[in-house]
Amino acid sequence: MSLKQALQIIHLLGLPKAARTKRRLDEALPYVRGYAVCSCVWALLETGILDQLLEADRLSVKALAEEGGLARHVLDSILTYLDGLRLVRAEGDEVRALPKLRRLMAEPRGFFELTFAYEPIFHRLRDLLQGNATYPDDVARIGKYVGRGSGQLCRTLPYPVLADMLRRHGAHLVLDLGCGDLAFLLYLCEAIPHIRAIGIDIDGPTVEYAREVLAAVPFGDRVEVRQADMFDLAPIARSHPDVDAVTAIDTYHEYLSEGEEVVVGLLKQLRSQFPNALLYVGEFCKQPHDRLRRNPTAFLEHHLYHDLTNQTIADAGRWRAMFDAADLAVLEEKVFDVVGHGYFVLR
Ligand SMILES: C[S@@+](CC[C@H](N)C(=O)[O-])C[C@H]1O[C@@H](n2cnc3c(N)ncnc32)[C@H](O)[C@@H]1O
Repeated sequence: MSLKQALQIIHLLGLPKAARTKRRLDEALPYVRGYAVCSCVWALLETGILDQLLEADRLSVKALAEEGGLARHVLDSILTYLDGLRLVRAEGDEVRALPKLRRLMAEPRGFFELTFAYEPIFHRLRDLLQGNATYPDDVARIGKYVGRGSGQLCRTLPYPVLADMLRRHGAHLVLDLGCGDLAFLLYLCEAIPHIRAIGIDIDGPTVEYAREVLAAVPFGDRVEVRQADMFDLAPIARSHPDVDAVTAIDTYHEYLSEGEEVVVGLLKQLRSQFPNALLYVGEFCKQPHDRLRRNPTAFLEHHLYHDLTNQTIADAGRWRAMFDAADLAVLEEKVFDVVGHGYFVLR
């Protein structure tokens, strides 16, 4: 804005009001922008454009639109917006990812993917609020992105902590419950060369995606993936009596809203089905709301997504009480309040 224009506005509104209005609009911008940026990033993610941008040095927008069967005008609008935010540089027919986009799509990519998994919930939030729709009867999460987002985020701390525990306790054959996109098992196979693993997940599309992932990795022959319900593992227990580690990362809490006794019953059942195995649990531990008010970390969003989809999060004390009720002894425990996650080895 030129000085002349600024003076005109000040003359019209008065300096205090002009300054206050600008301050308030600036304050609102990150919220509005977060919505617009997420929507654009998700559209690029789902159409595969995002990964093409990250993989290539620079690309032709015309070719991207033609090869992807995309509306050129919409693609141009998205890229121009992201160019303004210095996430990409779009000039003429060329577009390239800038370092800021590459940084956001490194570790934090999981935030975008996990939030995308819950996008259908936000899309119907007014209906949910007005009682015109309920979860999960009328609206569902996108399972594939629950697995992918959580897999990305867990690579930072949960997977290294659990891999270290499994290594020290001498695990050889791991059964992973709610394996999602296999991010944990693949991490594990890379970290511990002798490990073999079976991943199970109840969600068909997630398992299908996991199979695609598996086909593309070098140590795929050490991992098997199956669609199965962790409440019904008798066939796997019979075919694999040598399972010596049953892992579950952020899976048990999906059933807490049905009552802690459901999780306690499941833990007891696993104990008797896999008598030679230690149980390894990585779970969210609820953060006190007062702490989040003082320091509003991403756990605010995490708790919101879970609350809206009837997923209860227990604090570390509740988890210990459930393990105790299932007659499981805690051999080892690490709880990191800073990331709101706890890790337990149980016998
Ligand atoms: C929050 S995700 C965690 C995914 C994965 N463990 C990770 O660390 O990235 C929970 C997963 O549990 C799966 N799941 C939920 N109920 C299940 C059940 N009864 N049996 C097997 N998997 C289940 C979901 O489909 C989802 O992929």
